[in-house]
Amino acid sequence: MYPTIQFIHSYWAYLTLIVLLIAAVNAIVGYTSNKEYGATNFRLALFSLITSHIQLLIGLVLYFLTPSFQVLMEQGMGEVMKNSTHRLYLVEHPLIMIIAVVLITMGYSKHKTKLTSKPKFKILAIFYTIALILMLSRIPWSAWF
Ligand code: HEM
Repeated sequence: MYPTIQFIHSYWAYLTLIVLLIAAVNAIVGYTSNKEYGATNFRLALFSLITSHIQLLIGLVLYFLTPSFQVLMEQGMGEVMKNSTHRLYLVEHPLIMIIAVVLITMGYSKHKTKLTSKPKFKILAIFYTIALILMLSRIPWSAWF
């Protein structure tokens, strides 16, 4: 079970990050070059919302299966916090990723309430870019590649 979920979480991460990157760049370009907001922009924002939510759900399952979780159960939070890998997997990574997904969700719903193109792109550009930076800051890069 653990290897399967880890495999899915590891590969779905590519999709999540690539779609989020495209959506954020698309919003910045749309905002700076005064483009008209259309159906493709909406689909991109929605697709990024969906992929990140799926990644969050897979991550939640993985949390209870990772060997680091055994350390938490057997030795407690004190030991987890002393070890940088366990701390990353059980505290920093999940916390920052959840905040990033909340920002994507907020950006998505706020942009829908705006009636014209420029404010829609602005909201998406701000929220999606911050979410992307947060995600990139807490990826376990050494384990991933
Ligand atoms: C939503 C954005 C997220 C992204 C882009 C992401 C990405 C990643 C990546 C690339 C890895 C390394 C995979 C590997 O070693 O091959 C990883 C590991 C991990 N993630 Fe996430 N993650 C996200 C959310 C979450 C959430 C919300 C949780 C938990 C609540 C979580 C829990 C974990 C755990 C426990 C590991 C370590 C698994 C292990 O190797 O034992 N992730 N994540």
